[in-house]
Amino acid sequence: MKHLIDIHDLSVEEIDSLIKTANDIIAHPDRYSEKCRGKKLASLFFEPSTRTRLSFEAAMYELGGNVLGFSEAMSSSAAKGESVADTAKTVSCYADIIAMRHPKEGAPMVAAMNASVPVINAGDGGHNHPTQTLADLLTIHREKGGLGNITIGFCGDLMFGRTVHSLISALSRYPGVKTVLISPVELKLPSYVKKDILAKNGIPYVQTTDLDEVISSLDILYMTRVQRERFFSEEEYLRLKDSYILTPEKLKNARSDLSVMHPLPRVNEISVAIDDDPRACYFKQVLNGKYMRMALILDLLGL
Ligand code: NCD
Repeated sequence: MKHLIDIHDLSVEEIDSLIKTANDIIAHPDRYSEKCRGKKLASLFFEPSTRTRLSFEAAMYELGGNVLGFSEAMSSSAAKGESVADTAKTVSCYADIIAMRHPKEGAPMVAAMNASVPVINAGDGGHNHPTQTLADLLTIHREKGGLGNITIGFCGDLMFGRTVHSLISALSRYPGVKTVLISPVELKLPSYVKKDILAKNGIPYVQTTDLDEVISSLDILYMTRVQRERFFSEEEYLRLKDSYILTPEKLKNARSDLSVMHPLPRVNEISVAIDDDPRACYFKQVLNGKYMRMALILDLLGL
């Protein structure tokens, strides 16, 4: 049985195939509208979510399937002290596939070890978020025509931003990828990602605190929110939260074919004045996320 816990659970070939399916769904949605008839997705969200949860649910409905689940830990038996393992065993009796978001790193992996149906990691703490990465990869593929030979800048909270960790991990397998890591010193990319992913795969990286200095060198600028819920001190969050704010002024020095990405939700880090700039891709990412989740559900269910 296949699960998606880490983006490396999918080979480069499998990612190519998901991108192909997603593009086919975009072109011919009617061919997919009955594929999951009679199947159920359980969406188990122990942490807040708008895009990830609703796009999983929309994906399943658009495939003709059904959805059950909960959107906060307090409305599940977790509030009574039930373990993730027992929840996974229980939900396997009701659903054909599980999408789980949890504040604890590794919780979806524990679920996968105990479930008898495929489990998808929909974000675990500050660790990984492989299905956001699928959305990001489809976006990069559609915007740039492929996944290699790009210079991508990651800006903001690189320490706790799980979408950054998963996307860097995914891109480390493609040729000609260069990364620029832009963050306050306090929110630098964890050294395990630098050592085990970037250095190990020979991916060049530059670290800086200054977005203006590097913006003109980028093909893609991946902005992120400072992850308030992962901070130990509110004071520290308040000090760092507005470290980077992308404005039309700042974009003046960027390339005309730059793609500005953001997993969303945005708080303050991208001015709304940029939303109508043709370089803004973040709402395209949202839509691409639904198509990639449709492709993933089909793949994991063997349909
Ligand atoms: C991200 C997440 O949950 O990690 N959101 C998402 O799923 N699109 C990013 C974030 O919360 O900042």
